[in-house]
This record gives sequence, structure tokens and C-alpha cells, in this order.
Amino acid sequence: MSSPIASSGPSEWRKFRIARIARESAVIKSFYLEAADGAPTAPHKAGQHLPIRLEQRGDQPALLRTYTISVAPSAPQLRISVRKLGVGSGQLHDDVAEGDLIECRVPGGDFVIDTAPAHPAVMVAAGVGITPILAMISHLVEESERTGAMRPVIVFYAARNTSERGFDDELSRLAERSKGRMTLVRLLKDIGDAVLGREYEEHGVLSAEMFRKYLGFQRHDFYLCGPPGYMQSVYDILIDHGVADHAIFAEAFGALSLKRQVANSVAEPLALPATEPVDVVFDAAGTRSTWSPGAGSLLELAEGAGLSPEFGCREGACGACKVPLLSGAVTYFRETSAACGPNEVLICSAVPAAGAEGSAHQVVLALR
Ligand SMILES: Cc1cc2nc3c(=O)[nH]c(=O)nc-3n(C[C@H](O)[C@H](O)[C@H](O)COP(=O)(O)OP(=O)(O)OC[C@H]3O[C@@H](n4cnc5c(N)ncnc54)[C@H](O)[C@@H]3O)c2cc1C
Ligand code: FES
Repeated sequence: MSSPIASSGPSEWRKFRIARIARESAVIKSFYLEAADGAPTAPHKAGQHLPIRLEQRGDQPALLRTYTISVAPSAPQLRISVRKLGVGSGQLHDDVAEGDLIECRVPGGDFVIDTAPAHPAVMVAAGVGITPILAMISHLVEESERTGAMRPVIVFYAARNTSERGFDDELSRLAERSKGRMTLVRLLKDIGDAVLGREYEEHGVLSAEMFRKYLGFQRHDFYLCGPPGYMQSVYDILIDHGVADHAIFAEAFGALSLKRQVANSVAEPLALPATEPVDVVFDAAGTRSTWSPGAGSLLELAEGAGLSPEFGCREGACGACKVPLLSGAVTYFRETSAACGPNEVLICSAVPAAGAEGSAHQVVLALR
């Protein structure tokens, strides 16, 4: 039987029931999701995230948010684990109950783990940034139980204090099941009355000395997920100690802020924005408008034309605003992290690109 997620197109919303809500810490709750029609869900890749849509009261537009699936692909239910911050996460924490329905799209994202290599994976997570790492470690452990071989993994998990930190028991169980292939290093900023060795291994922030203490000299891949400042400082330490940029993978939960140092970059430079007005056709909506230099994103242009395109972060991180590009050329005015194909556009962060003579003619978007 095909799953409701698998059988739906990437832009189709499907209903999921909240089967269970679990408190993980003072600030994090997990939501277990199952397809409302009872069909099994398609396996995601460990580390991918799920776009969700939350209905709002009255005629307020639905809220789109993105949450990492915090379980392995083999888990019987999907699970998202949410830190309470603003409107959307607040709604999940305070207003949503077991049995309620939310809508989800197909999982996406390319922050995923390869179980095959023999060299160790080093996971660096801070706060709720543990969610993709949890899915990855669970996947590594489950694969090891199936195949008998496990890629070694060292997990550096930083939290402010023990009350905000979630998943202690789950991580301990994974370490046990790994039969010595997983090393867990828990860092606490405020130790309070936590017991060294039982509730944490290191006090303070991750440092070059800690890497030296726990990592050998062999090759490693690094997977980073946490607040922007934390990820940048860890990235800079790794680069300063000779780790290649291509061995460092990172996931941002908001605007991409990691400043990478890539010597002799082979990445294509981005096209320049158009310097003259460009005709923009929002094809499926049958609406057109004129974009002028300095007028903002294509999302803002569509909204100014009376359309209501879907969006989530408005920062290029979640992919909720992605639409097919039917013709013309666009470029980005900020670095984006959401996955996007060659004929797709993240309209929250895009503008028409300059043509060969510095001008563009028309951009046609298949806006729903
Ligand atoms: C790929 C991806 C994966 C993600 N995975 C997860 C995940 O697994 N778990 C998770 O919890 N989040 C995750 N997020 C973040 C999530 O999508 C939302 O951005 C987050 O829950 C905030 O949404 P909100 O509606 O609560 O905040 P909004 O109301 O949209 O507020 C906007 C921003 O303001 C800030 N803010 C608002 N209120 C507060 C506050 N009280 N204190 C401090 N800052 C505040 C936050 O930075 C917030 O992002 C992910 C995001 C992306 C792009
Ligand atoms: S709205 Fe999130 S990527 Fe555009």
C-alpha cells in the first residue's frame, strides 16, 4: 500500500492526527503523528524535516512551519520535537491536543547521514538542534542491529541546563544499543547540582581541547545543528584545525548564517539582479505585475498584487515558498539553505536576474 505522504505531490497537504504528545524538557514537547486515514507513512531520510500547516482562528491565513522528524525512518510513527519560542511553536505547545489534526507535506531536506562510511561521524548539537542528530543516531543504531556493522559516532550535545535538555533516556538507550560504537558527550552551560559523569561530561562550551580529548587522529565527518553563533564558533574551530569544509555539514533552523571558508570555490557565482523593471507573470493565478530594482522579493511582489502565496520563514530556510519557474531567470539576494531544484524558486529570497545585456524581460512563475 502506498503511503499518504509518499503518494501526495510535494506541494500537497495531507492530514495527520496527533497520536501522542510527550514533554521532553521544560521547553521541548514531542508530537507523534500518524496519517489520519490510517495508511502507513513513507520512510523519510534520517535528518529530514517536515513542513506543517497550522489552521488559525477566523480568517487568519494558516501558519506554515518546518520541524525536523526526530525519529529514524523505521519508526512506526513520525515525531516532531518542538521548542517553545513564538507563535507557531506556542500554538503547538499550548493549543494542540492529542487527537487533533494538522497538515503535513512530504519530508524534505538534504541534511542527512550516510551510514556506509567506516570513518566516524561527529555530531555537534545544541538545544533543540538535537532533533536531526537524534534521527541520524537512531538510524545508525538500527542499521547496525540489522547489518551487524555500525559507523562510529561521537555526539557532543550542549544544553543550557538539565531542565531544558531533552531526550536523556533516549540517548542513553541508543548508546547502550550501539555496543560501544557511540560516545555521548553532554555539555552543560549551568551545571547547577548536576552530577559529573552521570548527568554531564563537560562544563562550558565546546572547544578545540574537547575535540582533541574525544576524537582520534583519523578522518571524521561533522554534522552541526544549533544556534547560529554556536555553529559558527564550532565551524571556525574545525577549519582552524585543518578540517576540510566539505567534511562539515550544517543545518540552520532559520536564516543560513554559517560563513564558510572555501578555498578555490567551484560554486557558480550568483547572477546579478535585474537593473531594469521586469514583467512578472504569476501564471497559475493569472495575475501579472512589474518588479522594479529595489522593490523587494518576488514573494512581496505577489503579495502586493493581491495574491497570498504560502510562506514560512521568509529567510530561505524552510522551502515553504518554493514555486516552479516556468520561464525567465531569477537570482537570490540572500544565501538560502532550503533545497531547491534548478527550475524552482524560493520566492521569499529571489528577484529577477539580469539578462545578458544587464536587463531581463519576463519571469513566469507557476504560483498556486
Ligand atoms: C529546516 C528546519 C528545521 C527545523 N526543525 C526544528 C525542530 O526540530 N524543532 C524546533 O523547535 N524548531 C525547528 N525549526 C524552527 C521552526 O521552524 C520555527 O522557526 C520555530 O519553531 C519558531 O517558530 P514560531 O512560529 O514559534 O516563532 P515565530 O513567531 O515565527 O518567531 C520568529 C522568530 O523569532 C524568534 N522568537 C520568537 N519568540 C521568541 C521567544 N520567546 N524567545 C526567543 N526567540 C523568539 C525565534 O527565533 C523565531 O524563529 C526548524 C526550522 C527549519 C528551517
Ligand atoms: S518562506 Fe521559508 S524558504 Fe521561503
